[in-house]
Amino acid sequence: MSTKKPASCDQPSSSPQTLAAGHAHTHPAPLSGASYSAVELQPDNRTVLLLDQRLLPRAERYASLTNVEQVADAITNLAVRGAPAIGIAAAYGLVLAAASAPEDPADFVEALERAHARLLSTRPTAVNLAWALARLLRTARDAASLEPADRLAKLAEEARALHREDVASCRAIGVLGALTIADGATVLTHCNAGALATGGYGTALGVVRAAVEAGKRIRVLATETRPVLQGARLTVWELMRDGIPVTLITDSMVGHFMARGRIDVVVVGADRIARNGDVANKIGTYGLACLAHAHGIPFNVAAPWSTVDLGCPSGDAIPIEERSATEVLRIVTPMGTAFTAPEGALAENPSFDVTPARLVRAIFTERGAVSPVNEAGLVSLETP
Ligand code: MRU
Repeated sequence: MSTKKPASCDQPSSSPQTLAAGHAHTHPAPLSGASYSAVELQPDNRTVLLLDQRLLPRAERYASLTNVEQVADAITNLAVRGAPAIGIAAAYGLVLAAASAPEDPADFVEALERAHARLLSTRPTAVNLAWALARLLRTARDAASLEPADRLAKLAEEARALHREDVASCRAIGVLGALTIADGATVLTHCNAGALATGGYGTALGVVRAAVEAGKRIRVLATETRPVLQGARLTVWELMRDGIPVTLITDSMVGHFMARGRIDVVVVGADRIARNGDVANKIGTYGLACLAHAHGIPFNVAAPWSTVDLGCPSGDAIPIEERSATEVLRIVTPMGTAFTAPEGALAENPSFDVTPARLVRAIFTERGAVSPVNEAGLVSLETP
């Protein structure tokens, strides 16, 4: 499977920087109704509260962001991560841009276009980012000639609507996906496709939550997800908080557990789904899909329609983010940093891989399920 960059679906990548924001201890009132939230826009429409996921599971701390640069840094540095959540954070970033933009309509649009370009440059693979930014930029253009207070209110309203719709999508995806999960099943998931990665509730973890809410006894096996440990730090944290049985395994244990009959079904999220059904998701997903195929275990993908990119013909055209090699050369946790390789060692760090459609049993979206996974199935859901 090639992951080379295409001309058509590409966006620039960037390297990590630090989150330049003071930490606030105020707890937001999550729009999803949950007790925590990856990102929220404060009622003043001038502050974004963001749960700094780099500090989890050790600390639940919210950063208070007031400008586009801080939001862009937070996305690049994975303080907020997960395809839908970075789309929502970026949408709120454009609200912050509007709050400080010049009054003149043409200058306002120019300022918003600059902010759009900056936020779009943060991470290239998750198409939700481009999708959310395009939606907010359209609103900004439409509202440019309004009074500054009114156009700010319009942008904030649109960004909150996008956030609310994502939560509703996750719930619909969960209900649909849960129908395929048997009572007593053990579900393997990879990375974190939960409430932390979305507006709330989650996609892959939304399926797990909906199955549990339907009264099924579900166990989850969570891969630790090297190099940044989203599985160990975030998925395990979320599920333990909800009292859903979860057991952590290392990425390399999956074949063993499948061979022993310890995994009934795999459910993962996605960062971009191409027109032919190829799925880009966290590095390691492709390997899990191959193992699932070898063992006859269903491999399912749960994602909102905002992750589907019908303009991208196949997985070969999905841009794969290359992150800093230092993430591989050391293990960084909120508890400390361990260097695991000799000084000067070379490392590569593609952050995502592509699973070909033929290995995916079903894709669950809020518009319906696609199975078998192919272009015709996806295109049939194009019009809601
Ligand atoms: O690098 P990350 O943590 O942003 O990667 C996240 C994933 O790969 C998720 O599985 C994906 O974004 C789906 S989130 C609902």
